[in-house]
Amino acid sequence: MAKQAVKEPKDPIQEALTPEEEKLFTSLRAQSWKEFQGQESVKETLRIAIAAAKKRKESLEHILLYGPPGLGKTTLAHIIGKEMNANVRVTSGPALERAGDVASILTNLEPGDILFIDEIHRLNKVVEETLYPAMEDYALDIVIGKGPSARTLRLDLPQFTIVGATTRIGLLSSPIRDRFGVVSRLSFYTPADLQHILEKAAQKLVITIHEGPKKELAKRSRGTPRIALRLLKRVRDVAQVEGDGSITDDILNRSLSMLEVDDMGLDASDRRFLTTIIDKFNGGPVGIETVAAALSEDIGTVEDVLEPYIMQIGFLKRTPRGRIATAQAFKHLGKPIPKKLQEELFT
Ligand SMILES: Nc1ncnc2c1ncn2[C@@H]1O[C@H](COP(=O)(O)OP(=O)(O)OP(=O)(O)O)[C@@H](O)[C@H]1O
Ligand SMILES: [Mg+2]
Repeated sequence: MAKQAVKEPKDPIQEALTPEEEKLFTSLRAQSWKEFQGQESVKETLRIAIAAAKKRKESLEHILLYGPPGLGKTTLAHIIGKEMNANVRVTSGPALERAGDVASILTNLEPGDILFIDEIHRLNKVVEETLYPAMEDYALDIVIGKGPSARTLRLDLPQFTIVGATTRIGLLSSPIRDRFGVVSRLSFYTPADLQHILEKAAQKLVITIHEGPKKELAKRSRGTPRIALRLLKRVRDVAQVEGDGSITDDILNRSLSMLEVDDMGLDASDRRFLTTIIDKFNGGPVGIETVAAALSEDIGTVEDVLEPYIMQIGFLKRTPRGRIATAQAFKHLGKPIPKKLQEELFT
């Protein structure tokens, strides 16, 4: 048995949304292609798949969206539903426990409906196997009775579309992955895209954010719309309590330092992750299990939430022997750069 890790309190930027934030975020959710900023190649692929399905008067192919949290997978699933004029039924991998759970959802679908399965990498084997014929042939195999008298009955299902979302495509089995006609990866947003998203959100929330702080906030949002919106909300609170309600450089800097978000957008957990690799493991290479244990974090959180952005900005490398902090990371954290890494800074 693995030792139960003692959890430290999560940092405010990455913990789950409060119900109030949930409501606010739903109201800010992009409703159409026009409002969905960035991810041009994903949008193009989806637009073509949708147009083709409409032209053929068929249901849309099954679509798999993957990428780090907060980049817009759920939002896209709803936009797809709108574009197809289809109902979107929402469920998730962990919610589907038994084959019967899937059967009752599938048999209640209308033709053309979209079934959004979040965290699809967490489906159990039995449920997953029930989905294979459903996805391929719009059929459901039901076993009736037990033992020698058991027989299988095949039910026809309406033509429907599964939109699956996952932060961990590597955990998906290939039989299920192969049943998706479209597989699209969302990537981190550019600061320009985030600025645009912040501008739209500020309009909807009726707050003034000056050009400088908007740029800065976009830069410090880890390439992630959810984080940008979340920070905007926190900064707005500070602006209303301590300022005149508008977001200035001063308000922004004060809020972000209160939230411990640094100039690269790294927060306390990100820095703790890098510091652990540097201080406890001499900068690596160190296995991910070992780092996660040292942080009392589960590996999934480290791999899905912390690592992608830190790797993207070049502070961490993944090698066959383990994770390595780069010279950039040492420099950013004000640690003496080991000799072996020094030349990295000049290449
Ligand atoms: N391209 C975009 N343009 C505008 N807003 C966006 C965009 N992408 C995401 N958002 C906003 O960011 C927030 C997070 O998006 P969403 O919930 O769709 O992410 P997700 O990928 O489903 O995250 P998770 O993996 O945690 O489920 C939402 O409020 C959404 O409206
Ligand atoms: Mg989601």
